[in-house]
Amino acid sequence: MAPFGKLRENWLRPFFFFGNNLLSLIGGALTTASAATLIGFWVVAFFGHGGSGNPYVGIIFDLCLPGLFVLGLILIPIGMWLRRRHLKVTGQLPTQYPQIDLRDPRFRHGLDIVLIATVINFIIVGTGSYRAVAHMDTPNFCGQSCHVMAPEWAAYHVSSHQGVACTRCHIAEGIKGFVHAKVNGTRQLMQVAFHSYPTPIMAEEKLPPAEVTCLSCHNPNKFIGDKLLVKTSYADDEQNSMTRTLVLLHIGGRDQFGKLSGIHGAHLGRIEYIATDTTHQTIPWVSKINADGSTTEFVSSDAKEPMAGQKRVMDCIDCHNRAAHSFDTPEAALNKAMAAGSPNASLPFVRKEGLALIKADYSSQEDATSKITVGLENFYQSQYPAVWSGQREQIDQAAGTLVKLYGENVFPFMKVTWGTHPNNIGHNDYPGCFRCHDGSHTAKNEKSISNDCSLCHNLLAVDEANPKQLADLGMQ
Ligand code: HEC
Ligand code: HEC
Ligand code: HEC
Ligand code: HEC
Ligand code: HEC
Repeated sequence: MAPFGKLRENWLRPFFFFGNNLLSLIGGALTTASAATLIGFWVVAFFGHGGSGNPYVGIIFDLCLPGLFVLGLILIPIGMWLRRRHLKVTGQLPTQYPQIDLRDPRFRHGLDIVLIATVINFIIVGTGSYRAVAHMDTPNFCGQSCHVMAPEWAAYHVSSHQGVACTRCHIAEGIKGFVHAKVNGTRQLMQVAFHSYPTPIMAEEKLPPAEVTCLSCHNPNKFIGDKLLVKTSYADDEQNSMTRTLVLLHIGGRDQFGKLSGIHGAHLGRIEYIATDTTHQTIPWVSKINADGSTTEFVSSDAKEPMAGQKRVMDCIDCHNRAAHSFDTPEAALNKAMAAGSPNASLPFVRKEGLALIKADYSSQEDATSKITVGLENFYQSQYPAVWSGQREQIDQAAGTLVKLYGENVFPFMKVTWGTHPNNIGHNDYPGCFRCHDGSHTAKNEKSISNDCSLCHNLLAVDEANPKQLADLGMQ
C-alpha cells in the first residue's frame, strides 16, 4: 500500500491541486471530447456502417481531432504551471496538498467545470467533424471544393462515369487501401494548403488494380465482338467539308465457348510490361504468357539496358486510362461538336477559325472566354458581313460552344492544356496501342508484336464524303 500512498501524496494531490484552474480544466475537457469523438468514429468505421472511404476525411482523423487532443494535453500543464507560479509569487504555496475529497466544494466545483466543458466540447467537436465527414464523402467535395481537381472534375462530367463516385475507382477496399488513401489524402490536402501541389497533376501511381475497381461493375468475360466506329471530320476549307471514317473494331472478348478473341481477349492477365516514365508512354519491354505456360519476351529496338521500372500486369486502365476523365484533342473536340450541330457547318470557315481560336494561348479561362467570343465575332464582322447580319444567332451559339470546349479541356492555372493527359485507346493522337504494337518490339525468334492494320480493325472507309457502307446500313 505504501508506494500507492506515496504516489497519491507526491503526484496526484499536487496534480489535482494545481490542475484546478480554468485553462487546465478546459484542456482536460478538450482532450476528453476529441478522444471520445475519435473513438466514436473508429467504432463506426470498424463495424462498416457509414465508415468513410474518402481520403480527405483523413484530414479530420489524422490532423484535426488528434490536433485538438494534443492541444488539450498541452493546455493542462500550462495552466498548472501558471497557477503554481501565481501561488508561489503570492506566497500561497501550501506545505501540504489538500486531500482529493469529493466533499470538498472547490474540488466539486472543478469537476463541474470539466463535465460541462466536456459536454459542450463534445457537441461542437462531434457535430463539426460528423458534418465535415459527411460532406467530404460527396463527389462534389472531391471535385469542387478542391479547385486543383477542376480538370478531372470537368472531364468526369462529360464521361460515361459521371454517376460513379470518385472513391469507386480511386480507393481499394480493405484496410490497406483505406490507410493508403488516408495518408495520400492528408498529404494532398497539405499540398493544397501550402500551394506545393504539382501542376499539372498527373496520375503518378496507378489506381488500385482493376479487379477491385472496374470489375466491381464490368464483367471481364463479356463478349462484345465487333463495334462500328463512325468518325466524322471537317476540313479547313470555306465549306467545312465533311468526311467520314468507318472503323470496324474487333473488340472480341470471351465467347460462349470460352474462347478468347480480339482486343479484349488478347491481353487480360496475359501481358506484363515495364514502362520507363510515370504516364507509361514509353514501354521498352513486354512479356506474354502463352497458352502452354511459357513466356515470350518482346524488347523494343530502342530499349536501353539495364531497364529501370516496375513490372506491371496489363489491365483495363492500361488502355482505358481516360475512362472517367477523357480530355480531347482540339480537332476531335471540334469534330464531335460540329457533328452534333454547333458550331454550325453552314458558317464559312468556322472549323478553321474555331480550331485556331481554341488552340491559342490564353492566361485564364475568363481570358479565353472573352477573346474567343470577340475573335469569332470580329472574323464574321470583317470578312463575311452578310453572314454576320444573317446568321447572328448561329455565330453566338458557335462562340458559346468553342468557349465550352476550351473550358472542358484547358486549365491554365493547373497547366493542363490540349494533350497534357494522353489517351491510350487508339494510336492516332497519342502512342496508345502503338506503345507496343509499333512493329519494333521483337522477340528472340524475330517475331514482333503485330502492327498489321487489320489486326485490330477493318478500315471500311477512310475520310470519304459519302461512304456507301453507311447507306447500306441505313445509317446515312
Ligand atoms: C471510372 C473510374 C474513375 C472514376 C469514377 C474517377 N476516376 Fe479519376 N482517374 C481514373 C483513371 C483510370 C485515372 C488515370 C490513371 C492512370 O493513368 O494511371 C484517373 C486519374 C485521376 C487523377 C490524376 C490526374 C489525371 O487526370 O490523370 C485525378 C486528380 C483524378 N483522377 C481525380 C478524380 C476525381 C476528383 C473523381 C471524382 C469526381 C474521379 N477521379 C473519378 C478513373 C476514375
Ligand atoms: C460503379 C460502377 C462502375 C465502375 C466502378 C466502373 N464503371 Fe465503367 N461504366 C459504368 C457504367 C454505368 C457505364 C455506362 C454504360 C453505358 O452507358 O451503357 C460504364 C461505361 C464504361 C465504358 C464504355 C464507355 C466509355 O466511356 O468508353 C468503359 C470503356 C468503361 N466503363 C471502363 C471502365 C473502367 C476501365 C473502369 C475502372 C477504372 C470502370 N469502367 C469502372 C459503371 C462502372
Ligand atoms: C488492349 C486494350 C484494352 C484493354 C486491356 C481493355 N479494353 Fe476495353 N476496349 C478497348 C477498345 C480499343 C475498345 C473500343 C473503344 C471505342 O469504342 O472507341 C474497348 C471498349 C470497351 C467497352 C465499350 C464496349 C462497347 O460496347 O462500346 C467497355 C465497357 C470496355 N472496353 C471495358 C473494359 C474493361 C472492363 C476492361 C478490363 C477488364 C477492358 N475494357 C480492357 C481496349 C481495351
Ligand atoms: C503493353 C503492350 C501492349 C499494348 C499497350 C497493347 N498491346 Fe495488344 N498485344 C500485346 C502483345 C504482347 C500481344 C501478343 C502478341 C503476339 O502474340 O504476337 C498483343 C496482342 C494483341 C491482339 C491479338 C493479336 C492476335 O494475334 O490475336 C490484338 C487485337 C491487340 N493486341 C490489340 C491491341 C489494341 C487495340 C491496343 C490498344 C488499345 C493494344 N493491343 C495495346 C501488347 C500490347
Ligand atoms: C494494335 C491495334 C491497332 C493496329 C495494329 C492498328 N490500329 Fe488503327 N485503330 C486502333 C484502334 C483501337 C482505333 C480506334 C480508336 C478510337 O476508339 O478512337 C483505331 C483507329 C484508326 C483509325 C480511325 C481514325 C481516328 O481518328 O481514330 C484509322 C484511320 C486507323 N486506325 C488506321 C490504322 C492504320 C492505317 C493501321 C496500320 C498501319 C492501323 N490503324 C493499325 C487500333 C489499331
